[in-house]
Amino acid sequence: MEAVILHGGQGTRLRPLTHTGPKQLIKVAGKPVSQWVLEQIRDTGIRDVIIVLGDNAPTRVVEYYGDGSKFGVRITYVYQGKARGLADAVYKVKDVVSDKFLVYLGDNLVPYDLSKFSSFKGSASILLAKVNNPNRFGVAVIKDGRVVKLIEKPKEQISDLALVGVYGFTREIFDVIESLKPSWRGELEITDAIQGLIDRGREVNYEIIQGWWKDTGTPKDILEANAFLLDRYAESRIEGVVENSTVDGRVIIEKGAVIKNSVVRGPTYIGRDTKIINSYIGPFTSIGDQSEITDSEIEYSVILDGVKIRGVTLMDSLIGNNSTVEKGGRWQKLIIGENSSVIL
Ligand code: DAU
Repeated sequence: MEAVILHGGQGTRLRPLTHTGPKQLIKVAGKPVSQWVLEQIRDTGIRDVIIVLGDNAPTRVVEYYGDGSKFGVRITYVYQGKARGLADAVYKVKDVVSDKFLVYLGDNLVPYDLSKFSSFKGSASILLAKVNNPNRFGVAVIKDGRVVKLIEKPKEQISDLALVGVYGFTREIFDVIESLKPSWRGELEITDAIQGLIDRGREVNYEIIQGWWKDTGTPKDILEANAFLLDRYAESRIEGVVENSTVDGRVIIEKGAVIKNSVVRGPTYIGRDTKIINSYIGPFTSIGDQSEITDSEIEYSVILDGVKIRGVTLMDSLIGNNSTVEKGGRWQKLIIGENSSVIL
């Protein structure tokens, strides 16, 4: 069985961070969202991975993942280009998958045992989860233990069971996609494709999952995903240098990082070659590689690579690669894109 990771889309709700690259490459707890996905797939024993690329800096994705050997998988790239919908993206893998395959939305994090998909029965298998904002998702109506209807972004409350971004398909899905019409938002919807299977009398299995999962579509989602992953996976691992500082709780400090005259409270991640000087880094924070934080306090935030922060207090904030933020104040929910310079 192959696994397909959808890496296209527009990422409009994560602007300005997605003006310069795909949302799936935003790092949470030290790794791009789609790398968490890829490693979960690999750890299930699947070795053949297909990445569907969009038109937002696709070369960055290819540069990052290469042929997959660094990650223990074999990657084939397929180009979708413009975001014409999930079903359009899935159709693009028609020539490279076999009978049964897994599709994982590259911006979702679903800590579910994917090996259960290897033996799924019927034409498709979907995961559902109870949500309190069903209008943000595709939803499924279940009657007598069967999926009877699927609706994308329902305007009325017809079900609170959202489709989670992992699907098992057989090649039958391609026939249905060939006959799909674009939805009101101009996309070929995967929910409509699955509905098409049901309309043709095919069996669509489902499981209702419990517990945490995330569609990392907004800055708030990114911060929550970062906090969840740090809480679940951060161990105490200090490979950098700690001088005259206090490091409390589960803190990862990567090689080349220097912590000087500072306090770092876990769970927290500090990337390679990053310098933390005269600062406080609070829990549930990830700082990327080659960043420099001086005379600052940062809590519950995601700071990406090559960022410079001087003399600022930040909470619930998301700062893009290679940006500079300086000169004072206490800021909450500050969202800054890549390559920006902000003097507060
Ligand atoms: O998060 C779960 C939800 O994901 C489901 O409940 C919905 O039924 C499903 O349509 C999807 O909804 P979103 O509106 O969140 O989809 P989004 O546009 O964010 O795209 C999901 C992933 O697929 C994301 O990694 C981007 C990628 N994508 C998206 C489109 C539209 C593509 O690769 N190509 C595309 O054309």
